[in-house]
Amino acid sequence: MKIFTTKKETETYFANKGEKVTGFVATMGALHQGHISLIKQAQQSTNEVVCSIFVNPTQFNDPKDLEKYPRPIAADINMLEQTGCDVLFNPPVNEMYADNEKWHLNLGDLEHLLEGEFRPGHYQGVTQVVYKLFSIIKPDFAFFGQKDYQQILVINKMVELLNMPVKLVMCPILREDDGLAMSSRNIHLTPFDRENALILSKTLSWAKNNFDSNNISAIKQQAGQMISSQPGVELEYFEIVDGQTLHPVTSESKTVVALVAARVGKTRLIDNVLID
Ligand code: PAF
Repeated sequence: MKIFTTKKETETYFANKGEKVTGFVATMGALHQGHISLIKQAQQSTNEVVCSIFVNPTQFNDPKDLEKYPRPIAADINMLEQTGCDVLFNPPVNEMYADNEKWHLNLGDLEHLLEGEFRPGHYQGVTQVVYKLFSIIKPDFAFFGQKDYQQILVINKMVELLNMPVKLVMCPILREDDGLAMSSRNIHLTPFDRENALILSKTLSWAKNNFDSNNISAIKQQAGQMISSQPGVELEYFEIVDGQTLHPVTSESKTVVALVAARVGKTRLIDNVLID
């Protein structure tokens, strides 16, 4: 696997890629099987797969969260090599950001709903770094996990607004055997938290199995109660919304998604399920 740490060498390499179709998986490291499944999906449809590992400071609104974000780079490189990833881009912060760099993209209300409400500024930071990564690597396809559902909608909006020549592919959520969605943050869960966290995927499955478009507010209310009554779990939101706009479901909605965010012990987790 080629490992690049500077923009210049990465840009030069991809500027000379010829006819190759490039698949890109952006990560913040602490890789798990969910990330590996994205790499594998990229390998199936492209000739060269590039992964980035960069813990992006501008998308963290809590400095403590940024500080404690896991950074097991040696284990990550090993996993990527085992998976047959072709290129890793792993820049330091000063390679990606000049001082006092400003960024604002008009993402509309997608930026302020759900995750946006609880993590103000988060999606400006995400689009800022993904824009930079797409501009350096110029991938043909970029693969993102469904777990960060709203993130995909936001990046899609950015790609449309800036007319970027990349196609986004949404890949299914990978779950542990007991249903917990894989996440780099799961390593912070104590055994007690780990058990309690299962209420999130259980409630999403319950909502999917009991979905009735005429009864959405009752389902949401009951789901909220199920989660809030679990010890050690503090619910931030449980929503069932239009899968494209994240607005309330209407008769025009083509997809419906249930999304949840909660603090389990000290760890914030998100999960979702496509309902319809
Ligand atoms: O999903 C993530 O890990 C991050 O938000 C991303 C897309 C790598 C941008 O920093």
